[in-house]
Amino acid sequence: MRHSGMVRYVPPTIGDAVAPDHIRVIVGAASRLPASSGRIRTVPVSGPLIIDLADEAATAALGARLAAVARPRDVLLLHGDLGMGKTALARGFVTSAVPGTEEVPSPTFTLVQTYPSVLGPIWHFDLYRLKDPDEIWELGFEDALVDGILLIEWPDRLGGLAPRDRVDLTLSPGRTADTRQATLVAAGRSDWLDRVRS
Ligand SMILES: Nc1ncnc2c1ncn2[C@@H]1O[C@H](COP(=O)(O)OP(=O)(O)O)[C@@H](O)[C@H]1O
Ligand SMILES: [Mg+2]
Repeated sequence: MRHSGMVRYVPPTIGDAVAPDHIRVIVGAASRLPASSGRIRTVPVSGPLIIDLADEAATAALGARLAAVARPRDVLLLHGDLGMGKTALARGFVTSAVPGTEEVPSPTFTLVQTYPSVLGPIWHFDLYRLKDPDEIWELGFEDALVDGILLIEWPDRLGGLAPRDRVDLTLSPGRTADTRQATLVAAGRSDWLDRVRS
């Protein structure tokens, strides 16, 4: 059976490393932003990890892979245009972390949906309709930061309130209508990507 749910990390090589099935990891190297002086703050970053996603099932499988190694206070910022699959990835995450979850609706109108999990509560935000970053506090953001796992669509709406320790995951178009490319970068003290790789 063709197994569309596998996400496998292939150690970085020069050029392309081709994983079985349809998920291709191209690059994966630790890096650090250039050192700076004065008032400019340096933020350690790890990545990028680039993954080709052949179809929606592959996107959901990447969500499940992230969930398998998630811990309380992990933050995933989901970037990408409308229809790129941010909700599809979050859906894969939640259904994997909370077995038996029937529905994972897009929080387009509610702005947030929460799910209990053995790891602690999962908070799935869609901030497209947030008019001002400060409105986030009305959605339970303070509680979420204490012990939650945060999946945030349209994180640019947070302005300066976006957590510093997080993984930025950007979904971009692939070569055909049903393919996407995911680019993952860990920032601050987040070691989530290290857990994904191991
Ligand atoms: N590889 C893919 N990954 C994710 N979604 C895909 C993929 N290929 C096609 N799609 C379709 O794209 C749409 C993604 O929608 P959605 O997850 O709501 O996007 P977003 O939350 O980024 O606006 C769905 O209709 C889905 O079926
Ligand atoms: Mg969405």
